[in-house]
Amino acid sequence: MKKVFVKSYGCQMNVYDAERMADVLAPQGFAETAAIEEADLIILNTCHIRERAAEKVYSELGRVRQVKRARQAKGHETKVVVAGCVAQAEGREIVRRAPVVDVVVGPQSYHRLPDLVARAQRGGAVIDTEFPVEDKFAHLPAVRGRGVTAFLTIQEGCDKFCTFCVVPYTRGAEMSRPVVKVVAEAERLAWAGIREITLIGQNVNAYHGEGIDGRAWSLGRLLHRIAAIPGVERLRYTTSHPRDMDEALIAAHRDLPALMPYLHLPVQAGSDRILAAMNRRHTRDEYRRIVDEVRAARPDIALSSDFIVGFPGETDADFEDTMRLVAEIGFASAFSFKYSSRPGTPGAELAEQVPEPLKAERLARLQALLETQRQAFNRGTIGRIVSVLLEKPGRHPGQLAGKSPYLQAVQIETDRHRPGDIIPVRIVRVGSNSLFGEPADRQAPMTAAA
Ligand code: SAH
Ligand code: SF4
Ligand code: F3S
Repeated sequence: MKKVFVKSYGCQMNVYDAERMADVLAPQGFAETAAIEEADLIILNTCHIRERAAEKVYSELGRVRQVKRARQAKGHETKVVVAGCVAQAEGREIVRRAPVVDVVVGPQSYHRLPDLVARAQRGGAVIDTEFPVEDKFAHLPAVRGRGVTAFLTIQEGCDKFCTFCVVPYTRGAEMSRPVVKVVAEAERLAWAGIREITLIGQNVNAYHGEGIDGRAWSLGRLLHRIAAIPGVERLRYTTSHPRDMDEALIAAHRDLPALMPYLHLPVQAGSDRILAAMNRRHTRDEYRRIVDEVRAARPDIALSSDFIVGFPGETDADFEDTMRLVAEIGFASAFSFKYSSRPGTPGAELAEQVPEPLKAERLARLQALLETQRQAFNRGTIGRIVSVLLEKPGRHPGQLAGKSPYLQAVQIETDRHRPGDIIPVRIVRVGSNSLFGEPADRQAPMTAAA
């Protein structure tokens, strides 16, 4: 049996793609391995979103070269694949900078991996960064469930063209998978023991896949359909754009018990001037109004967001607008980044780039505020009973780790439960990255509704 090692960087889409790459290679006799030294095929599934993410690939390729050499000395051949968004953005340039690479394949053509690897075995580097006409999903084998939670790609690409962002270039135009395909994949996951499905897409709430009735279905409608699948206890979706938070989706947060009370809704900035320069196509007030509506539908919803500080032209006053917006809304968690100029995006052409030390200072202030809010949110769960989906063994023997509805990591001590159980847990303590709780069920754990 040959072995494949896949390392993924970047967003959830890449996590999903990495698993699908393993799926497509399995019929070729490749088993997955977590040990790079024993891999006949090494795949780096890369991210191009910020400069540092892209540079990581080249330093990792330096290490891969050593692994390949060491294996060669023992008489083993190794092929190296660079997939994902750096592959799409840089193509052949990767092979020029890192001749260790045998195959470069973009996010829309990895279903061709078996053929590309076979061609590389015959000699020479193989580059495939096309956006093929055929549907990648139609060429992938049926999904395999791993563990108790899963990502399911329902939408890909982006037509929004925020001026800082590479995604429209690396992932291509926006498209939605048909409802029947999505439902079939969700059913397979449920049969395989998956309890929680996260529907994913770069713009997941722009979903408009062909429905069972031939009409375009919105994400809200799709969520209702998937929640009806026996065994699917929990649903999430990510990442959403404020512009696409429609009424049906907001109502789903009120009407669907399986839809977890957590929403990742990137705002990026709190200044209307900067939001316009970013081409976000919403204002600060519009964002606040959406949040109000979502909270009216689901009062306990935990909000999360993404922020960029130091976008070209951002003044102190603009930055204070961001700080104020954060203070007004209150986030349970968030990701925040220094603006990173990306070649080929309109933002990179703008004159007034913000100096690095100023970006760092603003980021530190923003992160301190967000961290205070995160801790306050976590502390608010102490003493409460929350349902926890147990996912895997915890840090110590006798512990299991899982997630609360609000996507908080929770550790519990138990010898009566196992991964896949959804149990009430009383939160007793908050650590820096997890909550600690004790099972609050006296009887047997809840099992699948089926
Ligand atoms: N589709 C998602 C975002 C995908 S990228 C959305 O529309 O929100 C994830 C996050 O990376 C973005 O939300 C943004 O905060 C950050 N990001 C994207 N490009 C960036 C850049 N050039 N510099 C810094 N952060 C960036
Ligand atoms: Fe990037 Fe904007 Fe599209 Fe999100 S909506 S993927 S930030 S261009
Ligand atoms: Fe990165 Fe590509 Fe995702 S650039 S964030 S891996 S879409």
